[in-house]
Amino acid sequence: AKAPVRVAVTGAAGQIGYALLFRIASGEMLGKDQPVILQMLELPMEKAQQALKGVMMELEDCAFPLLAGMVGTDDPRVAFKDADYALLVGARPRGPGMERKDLLMENAKIFIEQGKALNDVAARNIKVLVVGNPANTNAYIAMKSAPSLPKENFTAMLRLDHNRALSQLATKTGKPVDSIEKMVVWGNHSPTMYPDYRFTTIAGQAAPALVNDEAWYKNEYIPKVGKRGAAIIEARGLSSAASAANAAIDHMRDWALGTNGKWVTMGIPSDGSYGIPQDVIYGVPVTCANGKYERITGLEIDAFSREKMDFTLNELKEEQDGVKALLG
Ligand code: NAI
Repeated sequence: AKAPVRVAVTGAAGQIGYALLFRIASGEMLGKDQPVILQMLELPMEKAQQALKGVMMELEDCAFPLLAGMVGTDDPRVAFKDADYALLVGARPRGPGMERKDLLMENAKIFIEQGKALNDVAARNIKVLVVGNPANTNAYIAMKSAPSLPKENFTAMLRLDHNRALSQLATKTGKPVDSIEKMVVWGNHSPTMYPDYRFTTIAGQAAPALVNDEAWYKNEYIPKVGKRGAAIIEARGLSSAASAANAAIDHMRDWALGTNGKWVTMGIPSDGSYGIPQDVIYGVPVTCANGKYERITGLEIDAFSREKMDFTLNELKEEQDGVKALLG
């Protein structure tokens, strides 16, 4: 039998945490032969810690054969100790009257502290996925706060956007979602993201030709994928949780176990390609194999795409500028 791996999850008692932990413990993320030890972080407040206890009781009650141990804590250094995987879900939500800038700063403090803790105590080959918003910039902050860990270990979640882009295209064309290959979602996990179907194939046919409706693509599809998060809040009264957890599982599973050549979107530190400055955490197409992701290179960027990609990049640059002082 395989030795257990340590999976840290922050914000473990939140709504995404509740949709995520049970699937990790059942083997959906790392495989049905991979035992896991869950190391769960929540805020020190009594209410959060009590809620975490309740979640841990339920995990116990599932009697998952793959759940080899559990730790519940309010200390990042305990949660990240020797962790092989970290899903950073907990973040400060936007409160009433809170400016975007304040939100950025509050989260910067959290991700500096957690980045430092990862730097000091996590396994050197840890795979980090940031889900908590603003996810790309939070991942950037954690990466910059963990100089002794390889930069490529830090990623942000664009997979929910990628999956939304797949499903909307499947619906439009009436084709099964798994017949769609080579979808790309460039940029920030925010409404500025750019779902790019120029390289996409559906059962082997080029998506733009099959859809044959450029107005729909530009005026309906792109904004619909970008604003889907807001539409879920409007409908449900709560932000997306099960689909976000599902995307986190997809992201980590693919990174750990590989994609068999299939393109997926991950927010990763830029190597300078596609005109994205070094280290900006930006959604790009990748394939994964042997526990590593590899970006798809050499894609042609036309004028429309350049404009869209720069727009979402500029938002990321503004976010980075906003936290520059804190990063020192
Ligand atoms: P939630 O509010 O239900 O849960 C968040 C949990 O994190 C709470 O239990 C809170 O106590 C905890 N928390 C806050 N700060 C923490 C810290 N410093 N350390 C440890 N725990 C902390 O929120 P939900 O719905 O679970 O969403 C979590 C985050 O994920 C939000 O920032 C949300 O915007 C983001 N999100 C990102 C998506 C993406 O595609 N990247 C999609 C959906 C949500």
